[in-house]
Amino acid sequence: MSLFRRKKITSEGIAAGKGKTGLARTLGAFDLIALGIGAIIGTGIFVLTGVAAARYAGPGVTLSFVISGLAATFAALVYAEFASMVPSAGSAYTYAYASLGEIVAWLIGWNLILEYLVAAGAVAIGWGSYFTDLLRSIGITLPPALTRSLVEGGILNLPALLITVFITILAIRGTRESAWVNRIVVAMKIGVILLFLVLAFGKVNPANWHPFLPFGFAGAMRGAAIIFFAYIGFDAVATAAEEVRNPQRTLPRGIIGSLLISTILYILVALALTGVLPYPRLNTPSPVSTALLATGFRFASAVVAVGALAGLTSVLLVNTYAQSRIFYAMARDGLLPKTFAVLHPRYRTPYINNLIIGGIIAALSSLLPIRTIAELANIGTLSAFVVVSAGVLILRRTAPDLPRPFRTPLMPWTPLLAIAFSLYLILYLPRLTLIRFAVWVALGLVVYFAYSRRHSLLAEPLPAAKKPVPAGYLAFLGRFTKKKKRP
Ligand code: ALA
Repeated sequence: MSLFRRKKITSEGIAAGKGKTGLARTLGAFDLIALGIGAIIGTGIFVLTGVAAARYAGPGVTLSFVISGLAATFAALVYAEFASMVPSAGSAYTYAYASLGEIVAWLIGWNLILEYLVAAGAVAIGWGSYFTDLLRSIGITLPPALTRSLVEGGILNLPALLITVFITILAIRGTRESAWVNRIVVAMKIGVILLFLVLAFGKVNPANWHPFLPFGFAGAMRGAAIIFFAYIGFDAVATAAEEVRNPQRTLPRGIIGSLLISTILYILVALALTGVLPYPRLNTPSPVSTALLATGFRFASAVVAVGALAGLTSVLLVNTYAQSRIFYAMARDGLLPKTFAVLHPRYRTPYINNLIIGGIIAALSSLLPIRTIAELANIGTLSAFVVVSAGVLILRRTAPDLPRPFRTPLMPWTPLLAIAFSLYLILYLPRLTLIRFAVWVALGLVVYFAYSRRHSLLAEPLPAAKKPVPAGYLAFLGRFTKKKKRP
């Protein structure tokens, strides 16, 4: 069935863009781990932890981080196998194209747009709130009309808009420069998290950890469904496949390494935050600096705010980068218009993509509140995990002999657990998010049948005999083939 036509996997991968027309291979293992951490640690820990603890999970937010971290880890192990087999730009989208067929790949690509593009909108808003806080701490107060979305009664989110413009320019300038900026920023954000941990653990009052689950286990699960946002991004590492040196070894290391480091830091930060302050006091968009301020570390609080800004910047950068590569891969396959695959003549980056992406992030962050955006991003990512995990299981059966430089351990349990955890988290998201997601998927199907299916490079021309012929020609033939009426 043409809906399930698949791309072939070879040991060289399914990359079509090598050589002159391809992206430049400039990234090594260290860059990838930095890229991963750059993508992962951001709004989840610096912004959403506060709300998740105060409203849903209490001190049990630590458990929320463990649960959503497990979902991400199982998925990461699955991604790593795919990434090493199919080192091609496009991440889960490309994997699904090779294993499950075109329509599934399309839906995954469509949902990854929710993951990267929509998540970037939430991160831009997070950046805006830390920036506004910081300005306020030096006596400059921006009018609320310029810091709030339309839905929240403002005109536009100016700080979010400015950071989006900056990131778009960086992304267009090229991978090497972006990786360089990313390294500095990643160092800064790990630095401020370590600083926070050292200071905060000295001020912990263990009484704050009791009761550990004030809203029960269900509360911790609801917290996990929101806080999952903190783990979005490790798969962005895999989207860099065509720009990595020696991708088959480097990619799995990048994915698993960056996820492991982030998970450990998250669990420690969650423990420290809920140990320093009673959880109801964490209901703020900047819980990390708030906790320091409350314990008397005024200067450190400002330093952490600066580091958080840097951290959020790198998350935005990597999400923008990943999204532009997904668009690039989909356009190269013919599923999106070719405009998305045009590379800049000098920087060799898909610059038209980046301009479109920048525009959408700016629009999202000006229009919608952060929680709405984060929840949509979560469901997009979780649904992609489910399909990728199914894909790895299917490929082990249908193509058992393909070289797999990295093999997912404990088959088939790892992908099955990834599927189970992801579905479980999806169920704990608000109903409205599920409805919005259903609408998004329906829209994706419309685009697929109206455009992508016919423009796909895999769309084979019909066999000669069945080729549609112009009506005039049929009518012409008809004149000769008409049976003569019997007298
Ligand atoms: N994981 C990323 C963040 O928390 C998206 O900002």
